Amino acid sequence: MLVNKKYIKRHKMGFVYFHWINAVCFFMLFLTALPLYADTFHFLYDMFGSVTLQYAHRVFAVIFILNPIVGLVTAHDGIRRLVKEVISFGRDDIVFNQKFPAELIGKEPEGIPPQTFYNGGEKMNILLQAVIWGLLVISGAVLWFGDGLISPAIRTWMIPLHSICAGFGLAAAIGHIYLAVGINPDSLQGMCDGTVKASYAAKHHGKWVDELVAEGKVTAAEIAEAANQDDETRKELAVEGKL
Ligand code: HEM
Repeated sequence: MLVNKKYIKRHKMGFVYFHWINAVCFFMLFLTALPLYADTFHFLYDMFGSVTLQYAHRVFAVIFILNPIVGLVTAHDGIRRLVKEVISFGRDDIVFNQKFPAELIGKEPEGIPPQTFYNGGEKMNILLQAVIWGLLVISGAVLWFGDGLISPAIRTWMIPLHSICAGFGLAAAIGHIYLAVGINPDSLQGMCDGTVKASYAAKHHGKWVDELVAEGKVTAAEIAEAANQDDETRKELAVEGKL
């Protein structure tokens, strides 16, 4: 059944918290390390103190590491879904990734096949973020605890590896935020109260919605009615000059 005749339940709240803890930790880790890279950011040491920022980096690192481990209990459905979606990457995801870039320049691409719970681009983002998480954790752990345990040559290599992962992670996060906020703002509600508009789900995740219909969780008539109401609302706003 739809929530308020309009919304589909997409993410459980445990997964929403998991996502935001990961996002906040990622940015805090980045910010607390910035003065190590360029003098331009030394003002952060002047403002907060170098020792405080270095401690903060380690505190956020511990939360960043524990979050997915705790998430295996508190957000297990959502995390299982991430893994299942990535390993099911297939032809439709490749076609999505070939056609989707047109949307970035304001065009409506044709011939995008219906997508599953996550689209081809999201699946690549999940894989990239998971690999980056793993490499950041390994290189960070070697830098933190490796003195005397790991050979100095390996420890030296961990510094550029840690930095490169942080750089790729930031680029991917900025792209991800642009896609969420700028291109698909309807997706944001899913990361707030866990629901998304049925019309949005049907348009962007058609195969997932078909699954829900096949499982009897929603009906095709409910989806069509909700999508219709969205269109009506859009038309009314356009007539009132608000769109
Ligand atoms: C202000 C910052 C952010 C916003 C607004 C945001 C928004 C979102 C939204 C709306 C979704 C759900 C997409 C869906 O239901 O299909 C999502 C999923 C996800 N987010 Fe974020 N996010 C942010 C930061 C981050 C950061 C920093 C990371 C990683 C370091 C991250 C990693 C992910 C991953 C892996 C997913 C699942 C797959 C995907 O949608 O790409 N997010 N995010």
